[in-house]
Amino acid sequence: MLRGTMAIDARGHLVIGGCDAVKLAQDYGTPLYVLDEAALRERAREYRQAFSRYLPGSEVIYAGKALLNTAICRIMAEENLALDVVSGGELYTALVAAFPTEKIYFHGNNKSRQELAMALDHRVGRIVVDSFYELKLLQELAAARNTVANILVRITPGVEPNTHSYIQTGQFDSKFGFPLGTKDTLAAIEAADQMPNLRLWGLHCHIGSQIFGLESFVTATKVMVRFLAEIKESLGLEIMELDLGGGLGIRYHDGNEPPSLGEYAKALGEAICESCTELELPIPKIMVEPGRSIVGEAGTTLYTVGSIKDIPGVRRYVAVDGGMADNPRVTLYQAVYEACLANKAKDEPKELVTIAGKCCESGDMLIKDIMLPPAEPGDVLAVFATGAYNYSMASNYNHLPRPAMVTVYKGMSEIIVERESYVDLIRLDRVPPRLTTSTETLAGKLT
Ligand code: LLP
Repeated sequence: MLRGTMAIDARGHLVIGGCDAVKLAQDYGTPLYVLDEAALRERAREYRQAFSRYLPGSEVIYAGKALLNTAICRIMAEENLALDVVSGGELYTALVAAFPTEKIYFHGNNKSRQELAMALDHRVGRIVVDSFYELKLLQELAAARNTVANILVRITPGVEPNTHSYIQTGQFDSKFGFPLGTKDTLAAIEAADQMPNLRLWGLHCHIGSQIFGLESFVTATKVMVRFLAEIKESLGLEIMELDLGGGLGIRYHDGNEPPSLGEYAKALGEAICESCTELELPIPKIMVEPGRSIVGEAGTTLYTVGSIKDIPGVRRYVAVDGGMADNPRVTLYQAVYEACLANKAKDEPKELVTIAGKCCESGDMLIKDIMLPPAEPGDVLAVFATGAYNYSMASNYNHLPRPAMVTVYKGMSEIIVERESYVDLIRLDRVPPRLTTSTETLAGKLT
């Protein structure tokens, strides 16, 4: 159950990064996202080591959609990872954090004119082009700037991994990329190569997320290499970069058994070498774009237990001060999480309970059926593996302010994202004069 630097101290308190989780909850309030910086850095290093061992010259690109803020950008830059951004907002965050722009990959299936212009103006490393519309738009914008856009073209390889259908992306029927096996796709490569202000460096694919089986990755790799051969044969073009996307799964709960990073890198490395040898192609530079498998297990969310309710003969609800607003994954994908009571981490788990959130929806559950020590109001619940797609998908539903985030590292805790305040919740509200009441005065008084 414990991950990263977690331990349990003599008082039975959960300790993360050398910091007592119960004290963190007291000092910063709850809900609180806690990021185990040593675990995060360790994972980033492990990724780089595994890939440089099995695929020398490869690049590991952190997928910022999993969790992005300026501190994370700094950590990833220090760990020498590249960065995948998917919007002007993510790009802005990276720029403010002074992330090296040549190591930024700009993704997205419908980037706007402004977003593409921003990417060109800041000279991001690669723009991953997703459609004919975007090819033309980018050519126009690059020509107007008298510059060259360095691009990858996104391909959907027609591989369907075994994961939740909402997070499968490599199948033929997808809103992403150019589907393999159609004439259009080869035409897109040809067009990209011929547009004077575009420089085609390589191809990209991403088959989905939270995937455990290496076979899907291997299949996608082989399919992509075969396409490289087809491009060479039909168009005489030698493509030198292949970005294989992200998607490796993590251990949310017992029974989840993701492959190690060594196994993952080895499987991709072997697939590339075999396919390239067979098809007599040079080995391209390989990139991977992990998000969840870098940051997921480094995150823990702390909550305070409030109301406890027994439905006789049915279940016991233990309600906490967060829920689907800070972790929408349970409601969206039926995700399963593990947790413990951070102040009773040594006590025997002998009660079967359901952890409920505080949003006004019956579906707002964090964990259905978990064994915990008897819970009481005021206990601190720690939910594990919440680093990915929690804060980044959090909302203000029910006007809940988004929680703060702290890093813990060698016994020190530091805020990296402030808790939102009630004032933040109405920061963008405007009351047209015809509706003026005492609203403004009230807001001022209540802060
Ligand atoms: N590259 C591309 C092009 C992607 O679309 C994604 C994720 C990644 C890389 C990173 O994938 P990862 O290594 O994190 O699996 N909200 C969902 C996951 C959506 C994933 C979107 N794309 C969830 O919470 O499970």
